[in-house]
Amino acid sequence: MAVPLQRVKSFGEIKENEWNNRPKENYSEWTKQELIREIKKLKKRKKYGILWEDKPEKVAELCKEKLPVLEEEKSKEIKTDENKPINILIEGDNYHALSVLNYTHKGKIDVIYIDPPYNTGNGETFKYNDKIVDKEDAYRHSKWLSFMNKRLRLAKNLLSRRGIIFISIGEDEIAQLKLLCDEIFDESNRITIFSRVTKKGGSKGRFISPAIDYILVYAKNIKQLKNFKAPLTEEYLKRYNKKDSKGRYLEKGLYQSSLDVRPNQNYFIECPDGTKVSPPDGKVFRWTKETFLKNLKEGNIIFKKTKNSPLIDENGNKAKWNIYTKQYLSSIEEKGYVPNNFIDSFTNTSATNEIKELNINFRYPKPVGLIKYLIQLSFWYNKNITVLDFFAGSGTTGHAVLELNNEDGGNRRFILVTNNENNICTDVCYPRIKKVIEKFESEAKNKLVNNRPGGLKYFKTDFVDAEPTDLNKKKLVNKSTEMLCLREDCFDLVKEAKHFKIFKNSQDKYLGIIYDDGGIESFKKEVKKLKKKFVVYVFSLDESAREEEFEDVAEMVELKPIPAVILNVYRRIFK
Ligand SMILES: C[S@@+](CC[C@H](N)C(=O)[O-])C[C@H]1O[C@@H](n2cnc3c(N)ncnc32)[C@H](O)[C@@H]1O
Repeated sequence: MAVPLQRVKSFGEIKENEWNNRPKENYSEWTKQELIREIKKLKKRKKYGILWEDKPEKVAELCKEKLPVLEEEKSKEIKTDENKPINILIEGDNYHALSVLNYTHKGKIDVIYIDPPYNTGNGETFKYNDKIVDKEDAYRHSKWLSFMNKRLRLAKNLLSRRGIIFISIGEDEIAQLKLLCDEIFDESNRITIFSRVTKKGGSKGRFISPAIDYILVYAKNIKQLKNFKAPLTEEYLKRYNKKDSKGRYLEKGLYQSSLDVRPNQNYFIECPDGTKVSPPDGKVFRWTKETFLKNLKEGNIIFKKTKNSPLIDENGNKAKWNIYTKQYLSSIEEKGYVPNNFIDSFTNTSATNEIKELNINFRYPKPVGLIKYLIQLSFWYNKNITVLDFFAGSGTTGHAVLELNNEDGGNRRFILVTNNENNICTDVCYPRIKKVIEKFESEAKNKLVNNRPGGLKYFKTDFVDAEPTDLNKKKLVNKSTEMLCLREDCFDLVKEAKHFKIFKNSQDKYLGIIYDDGGIESFKKEVKKLKKKFVVYVFSLDESAREEEFEDVAEMVELKPIPAVILNVYRRIFK
C-alpha cells in the first residue's frame, strides 16, 4: 500500500520537533504510476515566488455561504453641503466589505491607500480568525499572507483603468509583501517602494533604532498611467521670489561648480560693458552656446556685476560679471517635479499631534500630509477621484481627502473600511470624520477649526441567508436596493411604487429599480413624465433580454445588468 505523501510546508513555518517527527515517505512501496504522477506534480511546482501554508479564514467561508451586504445606520449619516460628494464609512471586516464593493465599485476606485497590521508580533496586534498572532506562532507569516492575499485580490478588481495602490508596511513583512504584490499586480506594474522617515531622533532597541517604514506602489496597468508630479511646497515656491511680465521666476547661475565637464559648454559670453567671460578651464556652463543665445534673445538672461564671480575674463583674471538665467515657475508647474522614493516630510510624531488637535486619542495614526501627498502626486490632473482605505483605523485617509477638497475645491470622495476593534470605528474614526466635516474646537490650538464640508453615510457589514423564507426575500430586496444605490451613488428616494423605486442624486442622475416584470409599463410612464436620464436595473427570474421592452424610452434609459452575485441569490430564493 502506498503511503499518501504529506503536504510539505515551507520550512520557515515548521517547528524543529515537528520537522524531526514528520512521517517519512516510503517511496519504495509506491507503484510506478504513482511515482510518475508524483514526479510530474513536482516538476510543475512553482519554482520562483512566494509559498505559504494557506490557512482558512472564517469570514471568507461565511461570504461563500451567504450573500454579504451592507446595512445602513441612518442615525450616523452626516450632511453638510448638498453639492459635495457622499463619502462612505463601513464598519466591519474588510474581506466582507471588499466582497460587497466588488459588486458596487468594480473598476471605480482610483486610489487605494492601506496601512495593514505590520505583523511585528509585539505591541501592535494582528488578529487572524479573531485570535492574536504573536511572535511564537509558527504560522505567523502564513496567516498574514493568507489574510493579505485574499484582500489584495479583491482590491485589485476595484481599481480603475488608471488606478494605483499604496501599501504602507514595516520591516517584518516587506519582503513577503513585495513578492505577493509582484504576483498579484505583476512585477511590471510596480512603480516604486518609498522609504519614509517615521521619526527623527530617538534611540531604541539593541542594534538599530527603527526610523523608517515603506510604501509599496503598484498600478493596475502602468501603461495607462500619467507621470507622477510632486506638489510644490510653500518652501519650494518661496524661491520663486522675482516677477516680470512673464510671471514668477527664480534666478539660477548659468555656471555651477558641481557640473560634469561636457564638450561645447565652455565658451565666451560678451557682457554689457563689452568684456568677455567664460568658466575657468575644466569647468562648464549649464547650457550650450545655442541654448544661451536663444534665451538671450527671449530676455531670459541677467548680467550682474559682482566681486565674487566664479568666471574668468579673456586674460584669465577673475571676471567682474556673473550670469544668471530666469527659471519661470510656470515651466516647472507644467513639467512637474518628479518625486524621489525617499519621503522625510511626514513623521508619525506629526500624525499623533494632528489627531490630538481633534481631542481624539489614538496611538498609531498615519500623517494626514502623507496621504495628501500620495494622492496629489499620482492624481494631480484629476480632483474628482474615489479613494479607498480598507484598513482605515482612525480615518486619516478620510481626513486627508476632506482637507484636500477644502484646499483646492476638488470633489474627491472616500470609502473607509475598518473593523471595530477596541471601538476604533465608533469612538475614533467616526467622531474624527464628523469633527473634520463639521466645525470643531481644538483644545490643543485653543481655537475653532473651520469645517471641511462633505457628506457621510455609515454602513455595517451584514449577510442575507440563501434559504427561501419570506424574511430573507424581503431582506434581499431591501439590501440589494441599497447596494444598487451605493453602486450608482443615488440615494434620494423620488418615488416608491408597488413594483419599482426611483432614486436621484445631486448631479440630477436618476436610478430606477424594477422588482417585477409587471412593473415595467408603469415605470416607463414615470420616465416619460420626469424626462430625465435613467440607469435601470430589472430583477427577473429568467435570462431573457429586456432591451426590447424599453425601446420607446431608449434615449432616456441605460439598462444595466444586476451583479451576478446578487442575481444568483435572488433566483435561488425566489424560484
Ligand atoms: C495600522 S492600523 C491603520 C491606521 C490608519 N492608517 C490610521 O491612520 O489611523 C490598521 C487598522 O486596521 C484595522 N483592521 C485590522 N484587521 C482588519 C480587518 N480584517 N478588517 C477591517 N479592519 C481591520 C484595525 O482595527 C486597525 O485599526
